Amino acid sequence: MSEHPISRFAETRMVTLQQHIMEQQKYHPTATGEFSWLLSGVTQATKIIAAKVRRAGLVDILGDAGHENVQGEEVQKLDLFANEILMKCLAYRGNVGILASEENENPIVLHDTGAAGRYIVLFDPLDGSSNIDVNMPVGTIFSVLERQNTGFGPRDSLTDILQPGIRQRAAGYVIYGSSTVFVYTTGQGVHLFTLDPASGTFLLHKEGLEMPPAGKIYSVNEANFPDFEPPVQNFLKKIKSSKEPAFTSRYVGALVADFHRTLLKGGIFLYPRTAKAPQGKLRLLYECSPMAFIAEQAGGMATDGEHRILEKVPSSLHERSALFIGSRNIVEEALSYTRGERKD
Ligand code: AHG
Ligand code: MN
Ligand code: MN
Repeated sequence: MSEHPISRFAETRMVTLQQHIMEQQKYHPTATGEFSWLLSGVTQATKIIAAKVRRAGLVDILGDAGHENVQGEEVQKLDLFANEILMKCLAYRGNVGILASEENENPIVLHDTGAAGRYIVLFDPLDGSSNIDVNMPVGTIFSVLERQNTGFGPRDSLTDILQPGIRQRAAGYVIYGSSTVFVYTTGQGVHLFTLDPASGTFLLHKEGLEMPPAGKIYSVNEANFPDFEPPVQNFLKKIKSSKEPAFTSRYVGALVADFHRTLLKGGIFLYPRTAKAPQGKLRLLYECSPMAFIAEQAGGMATDGEHRILEKVPSSLHERSALFIGSRNIVEEALSYTRGERKD
């Protein structure tokens, strides 16, 4: 039998991110295509941010923009640029009702009535921004929710935003690293794309990513050790003295990069509560929830030491949380300490 002419190409099928998002619609029978349209706003923005990050060392863009963000942290110019680009690319999509960013104190409500503003997009426009000065990776994290009340009449936008992470319709991140990588989930597994800078296209690299169930890398800001609660200190002492496996440590200081490594290689990333950050440092809506959705979709686990991250109902927009995220086996081990079941 002669070979079908297309089979030779099918083996090496080249799938763009746009194509992939469209194809994912088959899992959502009621999908109208508007969700794909929304996600393409995110990809468009991240390509522009990627290009800007690449030029950061060339143009006079480094340094402090001269004020602090709502979290009381130093804002750098690229944070503002990334924030603005995401706003611009998403605000005119027609189906985005609310935009909320780590960089803005209040959400931006675009459509407060009718079905037009069906989706809410939350983002950390530039994660790990202090890495920019030293040529280390930075990223963008996003999360998509659906407005609860799709009927007509004014809606309470804050109530719509403060949904537990389990209700996310999509989540993802982009790393502007040695290459630009886009990772996303809509609840049907986790998929990874790499940007071809020549054509400006995100191409499918790995579909249905699975996080290794165990791993030997732990990732934590060790300087905070004296400030961690005793159960966390005990857990860290335990894994450091473990022989099988013998652990090693990696810490980039940008959640996107530390999480990405954990997703691919396994292990654990933790940012526990400290005396300085009694609720934890990372933001529940912009950082913990989207990463938790991706981790769980890849077979991993995410907790704050007591509760599953995805079940936490936020009580404010910029709420912070402790985070223990990674391979199921190790996160469960951490939990056995934080829940007081183990003390050794
Ligand atoms: P951002 O740049 O968006 O403020 O986020 C920085 C976060 C996160 O990316 C990282 O995991 C963490 O801060 C690192 O904190 P420490 O410097 O306290 O270790
Ligand atoms: Mn961040
Ligand atoms: Mn940020």
